[in-house]
Amino acid sequence: MNEELKIPNHVGIIMDGNGRWATERGMVRTMGHKTAVNTLKGLCTHMADVGVKYASLYAFSTENFKRDKSEVDYLMNLFISSFKKEFKFLLERNVRVVFSGRREPLPEKVLEAMDEIVEDTKNNTNLTLNICLNYGSHAEITDMTKKLCELYKNGEINLEDITDEYIQKNMYQDLPPLDFVIRTSGELRLSNFMMYQASYAEFYFPKVYFPDFNEEEFDKAILEFNKRNRRFGGIKNEKENN
Ligand code: IPE
Ligand code: IPE
Ligand code: MG
Repeated sequence: MNEELKIPNHVGIIMDGNGRWATERGMVRTMGHKTAVNTLKGLCTHMADVGVKYASLYAFSTENFKRDKSEVDYLMNLFISSFKKEFKFLLERNVRVVFSGRREPLPEKVLEAMDEIVEDTKNNTNLTLNICLNYGSHAEITDMTKKLCELYKNGEINLEDITDEYIQKNMYQDLPPLDFVIRTSGELRLSNFMMYQASYAEFYFPKVYFPDFNEEEFDKAILEFNKRNRRFGGIKNEKENN
C-alpha cells in the first residue's frame, strides 16, 4: 500500500453478511461463518502489517442469542475452535487479544477459550484485537453505570471524578476512540456496536459480504478513509486536509 496513506489508529469492523454469502451459494448459513474465520485471519495479518494499532471486531451481539439454537451453538463451537486453534498464529504476529462483552450467558467452554487466548497474548505489543462477543453498546453503558454507582456508593470515587476520560476508562476495555467503522454487506446501521466510541468515527459501508472482505477490499476502505475530511467540530484546515 502507498506509504503516504493515513492509517486509522482504531478500526471497527461489523462483520456482516455471512448468512447471505452462504445462502446465495446454495450452502447452509453456517458455512458463511466458517468461511468468515479464514477471511478474518487474512485481515488480522494485513491490519498488523499496514500499521493498524487497534481493531474492534463485532463477532456476536447481545441480540444474536435470538437466533435459532442450532446457529448459536455452531457459532459458540466456532469461537472455541478459533481461539484454541485458528487464531494461535496471532501469538507469533505480536497481536494482543482482548474481549468486550458480557460473560453471562456464554458457555463455560467459550469463556475458557477466551481467557486462554487473552492470557497467551497479553504481552504482545503490535495490533490489539478487541473481539466484541456477546457485546452490545446498551449493555456496556449499563454495566459501566452500575460499576461507577458501586464505586460511588463505597466511597471510592466522588462525583467530580466522573469525567469523559473516566467513563472511557470504565468501558469493557480502555481503548482509544474509533476512527473508522466498516460494516460489510450493505446494511446501513450500527446494530448496537460501540455507539459511544464511534462518536467521531468515519463510516464505510461496502456491499460485499464479510467472507469476501479480503485484504484488497480492506485497502479500498483505507483509500476511502483517506478521502474523508475529519473536523471534530472544528473548522476545516485546508492545508492539513489537502
Ligand atoms: C454476521 O453475519 C455474523 C453474525 C452476526 C454472527 P450474519 O449471520 O448476520 O449474516 P446475514 O446478515 O444474515 O447475511
Ligand atoms: C450485527 O449483525 C452483529 C454482528 C455482525 C456480529 P446482525 O446481522 O446481527 O444485525 P442486524 O440484525 O441485521 O441489525
Ligand atoms: Mg446480519
